[in-house]
Amino acid sequence: MASVTLSGALDALRTVVEPSSGKHLVRLGWIRGLTVSEEHVRFTLWMDDPLHPFAGKAADACREALARAFGQDLRVDVDQDGDMIDLGADLSIDGQEAAATPGAGITSIIAVASGKGGVGKSTVASNLAVALAQQGLDVGLVDVDIYGPSIPTMFGLETAKPRVNAQRRIIPLEKYGVKLLSMGFLVDPEKAVIWRGPMVTSAVRQFLSDTEWGNLDVLVMDLPPGTGDIQLTIVQTIPLAGAVIVSTPQRVALSDARKGVAMFDQVGVPVLGIVENMAYFEPEELPGKRYYLFGQGGAKALAGELDVPFLGEVPLVQAIRENADQGTPVVTDRQSAAGKVFSELAADLTRRIEERSALRPPTRKIDILHG
Ligand SMILES: Nc1ncnc2c1ncn2[C@@H]1O[C@H](COP(=O)(O)OP(=O)(O)O)[C@@H](O)[C@H]1O
Ligand SMILES: [Mg+2]
Repeated sequence: MASVTLSGALDALRTVVEPSSGKHLVRLGWIRGLTVSEEHVRFTLWMDDPLHPFAGKAADACREALARAFGQDLRVDVDQDGDMIDLGADLSIDGQEAAATPGAGITSIIAVASGKGGVGKSTVASNLAVALAQQGLDVGLVDVDIYGPSIPTMFGLETAKPRVNAQRRIIPLEKYGVKLLSMGFLVDPEKAVIWRGPMVTSAVRQFLSDTEWGNLDVLVMDLPPGTGDIQLTIVQTIPLAGAVIVSTPQRVALSDARKGVAMFDQVGVPVLGIVENMAYFEPEELPGKRYYLFGQGGAKALAGELDVPFLGEVPLVQAIRENADQGTPVVTDRQSAAGKVFSELAADLTRRIEERSALRPPTRKIDILHG
């Protein structure tokens, strides 16, 4: 029998597709608490709706997929989570519908963070969100950087105003296949500078909970830069599946990125990886010639030292800045050099997010309204 690896088991489980969404079970976050040893695979089938029409067939379909990949001798244990859930408690908390929590319907919330402002956090968040949507995921992007909300500009939506539905819930805007929302739509950044930490956190929590996101595979969250009180409280109270840290190669930026990793460690949020932005400059007329203006390999070395994944290098490219200013993230041109970089980053990130989701213990999401 072929020996089983975690990524091999996940690949096999990715062949099991839930018919109504057309998405595989790993992406849907139905696989939880996955453990893999040489001849044994075990996991919990976890779904928002235990009465889902595919619920009864999913376990057998998973067993078959694993047997196809690794042979009939493989031992597979599937726990159905039905017995673990107290349905009444889950569906209504203090009379609130479960849908009022930001976790409901959202498989993974991913924070994009940086130790320092101006390193390209919003640029990376926007392009990743669009690239994830291009790869078929249902994606939301939320800008909770109340001090410098730049997502509206990067999507050409400075003047747009989100609407509110009959249930008084905010309907996100939609562009390039991404549902998006910015605290900048609701909060005047000039007034927000004097907000205290608890005000920011409760505004962010309410903002997320009061939004009609629908079903999302990933919600990308553009955090305020830095690792202060406010950032710490946000990452503590929002049920994050992981964080991406953006840094430039300069020493100061790297030392701040290190603080970012430490912050997420402190609250137990896995760091999915570090992205090095403005890593090098490659002149258009000299393809292949790379100038490492701010030094070379710093973020990669830092990732190695801190034992977190290195997600890749984004070059310093005029088109990235121009497209951002014009409201079209560069990855909308998938054939462009910079577009390809973000597409690859997104594909890699998807696998990491899915892996994290499958390893997560099968517990209910945190209700941040009452948490
Ligand atoms: N790789 C890049 N190449 C060229 N310009 C970039 C790149 N990354 C970011 N920029 C530009 O740098 C500025 C700051 O980026 P931004 O994403 O707003 O940073 P942050 O959100 O970290 O403050 C913006 O004008 C943006 O267009
Ligand atoms: Mg920003």
